[in-house]
Amino acid sequence: MAGERAGEGQTALVTGASMGIGVDLAECFAKDGYDLILCARSEAQLKEVADRLAAKHRVEATPIAADLGVPGGGERLAAEIAARRLEVDALVNNAGYGMAGAFDGSDRAVQLGMIDLNDRALVELTHFYWPRMLANRRGGVLNVASTAAFQPGPLMAVYYASKAFVLSFSEALWKEAEGSGVCVSCLCPGPTASHFRERAGTGKTRLARTGTPMSSAAVAEMGYRGWRENRRVVVTGARNAALAGLIPFLPRRTLLRIVHHLQSPA
Ligand SMILES: NC(=O)c1ccc[n+]([C@@H]2O[C@H](COP(=O)([O-])OP(=O)(O)OC[C@H]3O[C@@H](n4cnc5c(N)ncnc54)[C@H](OP(=O)(O)O)[C@@H]3O)[C@@H](O)[C@H]2O)c1
Repeated sequence: MAGERAGEGQTALVTGASMGIGVDLAECFAKDGYDLILCARSEAQLKEVADRLAAKHRVEATPIAADLGVPGGGERLAAEIAARRLEVDALVNNAGYGMAGAFDGSDRAVQLGMIDLNDRALVELTHFYWPRMLANRRGGVLNVASTAAFQPGPLMAVYYASKAFVLSFSEALWKEAEGSGVCVSCLCPGPTASHFRERAGTGKTRLARTGTPMSSAAVAEMGYRGWRENRRVVVTGARNAALAGLIPFLPRRTLLRIVHHLQSPA
């Protein structure tokens, strides 16, 4: 029945929804009655997720395969959504990737593609849907950054910087939307079980050897709940939150030494 669930009659666009944290974030929205638009590059996987979530949670789920890691990717996705006469009330900018290793000798296309996906597409899509959210005084944006956002990341420099951008941008929008009914949250997960590590090549770093990654379902649940409560920043897990809280008090050189050590091969 309409109005039964909090998201009934609204649609959430989730990027990076073919695997990992994005699938679980999409499920959190679906559980609450949001219809879904799911985006990633892998068409078959995306369709499978859409069909499963639609059936399980009695919502509409539209998969749209798109590459957001190229300039203009966000705009093309928004045009496709408009062509299908779909609206977006909640935007979950989750798609992203990282790449481990020194900046010297790195692949330029991979480094720039990271900025295109993690930052450029995120801004493009937000810019597209933000006016409607403010006009409707509901919905909002859930951006997925990382605990990497809180400090520079030697040996993974562009990724850390790309996530610092996401954090800064999200906090600024949170303030701009204050009192409007539009929610903005920046989800900052620490190490999380997903395909991220495979693509980023971070499996052999010292950081990868410390502790057990959180489950993507737990991370998504915290992110979704935080967003519903309009929490500006959501750091997943007590240990990650405590470490993030310490960072401003550490001398910058010490911090850089620690991160360099953690990002080095074990
Ligand atoms: N896992 C962690 O430890 C961790 C920690 C902190 C933050 N995060 C952040 O969490 C977010 C989700 O990552 P994850 O851990 O779930 O990784 P994942 O399992 O690798 O999933 C990444 C998702 O992004 C999509 N994607 C990648 N490149 C894309 C492109 N060019 N265009 C459109 N979609 C693209 C992938 O689908 P296709 O390959 O099908 O396109 C996939 O659905 C990322 O922003 C990541 O930086 C992850």
